[in-house]
Amino acid sequence: MKPFVLRIALLALSIIGISLLHYFTPLHLHYLHDIFQRFYYLPIILAALWFGFRGGLACSLMVSIVYAPHILFQWGGTLALDMEKYLEIMLYNIVGGVTGLLAQRERERSIELQKTAKGLEESYHKLQAQSERTIAIEEQLRRAEKLSTLGEMAAVLAHEIRNPLGSIRGTAEILRDDYRPGDPKHEFIEIQIKETERLNRVVEEFLRMARPQPAEMGRCSLREELETIVTLTANDAKVREIELVLEPVADDAVIKGDGEKLRQAFLNIVINALQATPAGGSVTIGVESPLPSAEGEVVYEIRFRDSGPGIDKEILARIFEPFFTTKPDGTGLGLAITKKIIEGHGGTLEVESEDGKGTAVVTRLPKSE
Ligand SMILES: Nc1ncnc2c1ncn2[C@@H]1O[C@H](COP(=O)(O)OP(=O)(O)OP(=O)(O)O)[C@@H](O)[C@H]1O
Ligand SMILES: [Mg+2]
Repeated sequence: MKPFVLRIALLALSIIGISLLHYFTPLHLHYLHDIFQRFYYLPIILAALWFGFRGGLACSLMVSIVYAPHILFQWGGTLALDMEKYLEIMLYNIVGGVTGLLAQRERERSIELQKTAKGLEESYHKLQAQSERTIAIEEQLRRAEKLSTLGEMAAVLAHEIRNPLGSIRGTAEILRDDYRPGDPKHEFIEIQIKETERLNRVVEEFLRMARPQPAEMGRCSLREELETIVTLTANDAKVREIELVLEPVADDAVIKGDGEKLRQAFLNIVINALQATPAGGSVTIGVESPLPSAEGEVVYEIRFRDSGPGIDKEILARIFEPFFTTKPDGTGLGLAITKKIIEGHGGTLEVESEDGKGTAVVTRLPKSE
């Protein structure tokens, strides 16, 4: 039964009960009637508390209607003799009305307070979400700063190495002319020249990478790129006894990008997945059909899932930091570079992982027109 009906029934029963006591108690037991008279306040006050002003008044009127015939017909109804009983009826109505009014005000105030509290709570949540976003953005900025200063420092270093290298090579070439071919010293100098050349190539290559190059954006077929990645890593997967699966990719899944860079990014992700997965596990690569992104572009979502141990929260917060690694021989640059490449393509890179449940690296890249 609903609480409303239950309450009405309780009130009605108590009014009927008290009235029956009045009607069936002999009049000479007037002290009992005096007590019963006061019992009526119970349902009146309850009605006022439960249903407010109207409820209180309705109940007191009800009591008045039920009680009046008892005064009129059983007591005689003389105004002078039964004055006290008529006054009691008046009091019923005053108590019903006033208590109802007060209860109603109290209730309205508490509703008002609840509303304010709810509003405050909402503002608090909004504020919290905003500050979390700000913290995340700051974190991103710090990471970007770290990467760019590191890159600049390394570029300066490489540049400084290149100049003395040129001198070493130049002087070695001069010295070489002093010895005839076949002379052991001639060969040593040859080695010196060859090794400086090699060092120079490494430095040049590094400088080429560090310099912000305009990426060579072209149309990249996701199927072809991912097939290349699978071919490159298939042997590693086999040795590790991991099932490497490329789910079917549509031929028209084409994105705008620099194939070489994207391959480097995908390779980093797959190698991480293979390194994390124990023998007998699996690494699955799949491409979702194109989805509209928040910015209104159409993007392809490429998911790399592994059945490894997952990443716990504290580590997850740091995996994009340059030089952060949990591997004895890792450099910790893989994901930092990968993120830079993906973001350089207008895409996003996210890692979904729960300790013990494997990892999914999700990249979204804009579709090529
Ligand atoms: N699929 C994965 N499962 C579990 N942990 C991962 C996964 N991918 C990345 N990680 C964690 O993120 C860290 C950073 O990865 P990142 O690729 O940047 O560096 P690395 O793999 O340690 O070093 P490098 O890539 O130079 O060999 C890893 O050390 C590892 O702890
Ligand atoms: Mg790595």
